[in-house]
Amino acid sequence: MASKKAFITGITGQDGAYLARLLLRKGYEVHGLVRRSSSPNTGRIDGMLANRHWPDVRYCAHFGDMTDTMSLVRILDAVGPDEVYNLAAQSHVRVSFDMPEFTGDVNGLGTLRLLEAIRSLGLDKTTRFYQASTSELYGKVRETPQTETTPFCPRSPYAIAKLYAYWTCVNYREAYHMFAANGILFNHESPLRGDQFVTKKIVRGAVRIHNGSEEPIRLGNLDARRDWGHAADYVAGMHAILQHDTPDDFVLATGQCHTVRQWLEEVFRLLDRELVWQGQGLAEQGCDRKTGRILVTIDPAFFRPTEVELLCGSADKARSLLHWQPEYTFQSLIADMLDHELKEQ
Ligand code: NAP
Ligand code: GDD
Repeated sequence: MASKKAFITGITGQDGAYLARLLLRKGYEVHGLVRRSSSPNTGRIDGMLANRHWPDVRYCAHFGDMTDTMSLVRILDAVGPDEVYNLAAQSHVRVSFDMPEFTGDVNGLGTLRLLEAIRSLGLDKTTRFYQASTSELYGKVRETPQTETTPFCPRSPYAIAKLYAYWTCVNYREAYHMFAANGILFNHESPLRGDQFVTKKIVRGAVRIHNGSEEPIRLGNLDARRDWGHAADYVAGMHAILQHDTPDDFVLATGQCHTVRQWLEEVFRLLDRELVWQGQGLAEQGCDRKTGRILVTIDPAFFRPTEVELLCGSADKARSLLHWQPEYTFQSLIADMLDHELKEQ
């Protein structure tokens, strides 16, 4: 039987790299959308091509951009994918306040371009479509835990663009009977997480200190609460969503919620340092209990004009219909990221 073909936008990002590996392991032919850039942006996926354990890797990169309709049409026409995973996005919430128009174009209209390209090419009856929706849609949360029926209340240009994409996906399912599904994913991290997200920033900063740096980690809101899981578990959920017998929307979450402060404390604990807190507000500092050295300071540059204070999801629907269950815990996720960083630096 011919192997399935998948097209992944955002393949050079954290989730794209994990998903591509998963699909290649399952025997898929994988096609990825890659943006032209003046410096290398394929570091997360280069290893796949040179993996001697998978001698028959079938992977193909295609240059294009979510803002360039014709590039999407051309690639979809050439590939004729069974499954499309739309992971491409300007994915940083803080940055979306600085670049709201670009974020809307890529995250919102980009999704429309892709769906409309599938439809115009007559692939709507054969191609299954996954949309990378987000727990940021819940924003100023109306209930906890958040589920597939919790009302959305987005609080950033990023989340507002993703709201447009979410409903576009639902509309193409209802209007054209496409297999189009949203995964509403809560935060997921990994050793491949971008350096500007808080989890990776903390792990990198703490390992630098462990290796002798005097530079404290400068952060914004330490009291934000997130439901953090591991990207490896979440890409398995994306795949399961597209294998379900009907197109539907699913929350993927761990159901466990921690503050940024708790993430910091756990990272330093694993590096044999106990963090103690002194001062308040912008003057708050995290210090090493033994030496008194300042390890964490507050920098207003990292606060957001409107913040999402609490995200905590219930993945009951995915658990019962897809049999999806995350394997990593808060502790084993941090341990994995820390192990990797200790080897890297
Ligand atoms: P990421 O690491 O920031 O990756 C984003 C990807 O999108 C990169 O491959 C990037 O390419 C690509 N991209 C950005 N703008 C593009 C454009 N104009 N045209 C083509 N490609 C473009 O994000 P991630 O953490 O893997 O997240 C994957 C998706 O899931 C995103 O849509 C994100 O919003 C969503 N999501 C993530 C989480 C999470 O916690 N990770 C949770 C819920 C939803 P370059 O490498 O060239 O920059
Ligand atoms: N990035 C960052 N940098 N965040 C900080 C910092 C800092 O220095 N200090 C505190 N934070 C707080 C943020 O204010 C936020 O409340 C929390 O840490 C998490 O921030 P991020 O790691 O940037 O992630 P996010 O929750 O805003 O967004 C991520 O998860 C979403 C799903 O809920 C991204 O991956 C989004 O693309 C994704 O949709």
